[in-house]
Amino acid sequence: MAEKVMHAVQYDSYGGGAAELKHVEVPVPTPKKDEVLLKLEATSINPIDWKIQKGMLHPLLCPKFPFIPTTDVGGEVVEVGSNVKNFKSGDKVLAMLNTQNGGGLSEYVVAKESLTVTRPVEVSAAEGAGLLIAGLTALQALVYAAGVQLDGTEPRKNILVTAASGGVGHYAVQLAKLGNTHVTATCGARNSDFVKSLGADEGKVIDLTPSAKAMWTFAVKKLTFSKKQLVPLLFAPNKANLEFLVKLVKEGKLKTTIDSKHPLIKAEDAWSRSIDGHATGKIIVEP
Ligand SMILES: NC(=O)c1ccc[n+]([C@@H]2O[C@H](COP(=O)([O-])OP(=O)(O)OC[C@H]3O[C@@H](n4cnc5c(N)ncnc54)[C@H](OP(=O)(O)O)[C@@H]3O)[C@@H](O)[C@H]2O)c1
Repeated sequence: MAEKVMHAVQYDSYGGGAAELKHVEVPVPTPKKDEVLLKLEATSINPIDWKIQKGMLHPLLCPKFPFIPTTDVGGEVVEVGSNVKNFKSGDKVLAMLNTQNGGGLSEYVVAKESLTVTRPVEVSAAEGAGLLIAGLTALQALVYAAGVQLDGTEPRKNILVTAASGGVGHYAVQLAKLGNTHVTATCGARNSDFVKSLGADEGKVIDLTPSAKAMWTFAVKKLTFSKKQLVPLLFAPNKANLEFLVKLVKEGKLKTTIDSKHPLIKAEDAWSRSIDGHATGKIIVEP
């Protein structure tokens, strides 16, 4: 029987940006024992996706070429591996793909059951796909690094979110406001309405451009008990954290702002939009 093929977008080497994305037909992947096969409905683009293409994460992350990028996906389960217990065909889900393997700019992808969560009807595939890297980063920076309790049961904290209109920033502002916080959100003038409900003060700083210098400043200020702390962004895949974010969206306590939606056949437009660095919320690609 002929192998089933799908449309995917990939690149063959480092560099080149959107111009080097190629539209190809490749075999639909087969799920391993602990994987589900998803028919994709949406994937979101994160700066890490094009930073990998630029070689900026080498040697930490070295894609195997040809490489189909993006990791944050929403879709429907169409097949499950023999050891998969919690999902069946027809389930609507969100999944975080392994950054080393990518796979999201395509019609079908395999995802580990351990990083797949159920997507309730209240959460669209696009809204959910936006949540993964960006939402998890915002949540982990606020809760684990800055120590904000999202149930508001702690003394008031002052939080400054820079680039507040971007993917991570817009989740960080909303999540911080669930705690007992005074949030200062910085953004470009054209986005001031978008973040205008936020207060202004000073305190912990969430730095959206993690660097060795930011890490060093964070460590020194911790050691010197400085009241102002720079919190570097470090993100780790975490299923429980993701389920928590999905619940917040379902309950209407957290929203994904969609900057733009692009069909898979125009994935290069989404790629350029992300490289430009001025998205308001999340950039979504839909097969
Ligand atoms: N280490 C980690 O685990 C981790 C995880 C997630 C993200 N990140 C990093 O965090 C950064 C933000 O990610 P993101 O997903 O939020 O990206 P994004 O959605 O592309 O961010 C776009 C936002 O950045 C703002 N911006 C662009 N250039 C700026 C500048 N020079 N100064 C201040 N703001 C600027 C834009 O505001 P205007 O439109 O007003 O210019 C826009 O609101 C990226 O560098 C990303 O790689 C790191």
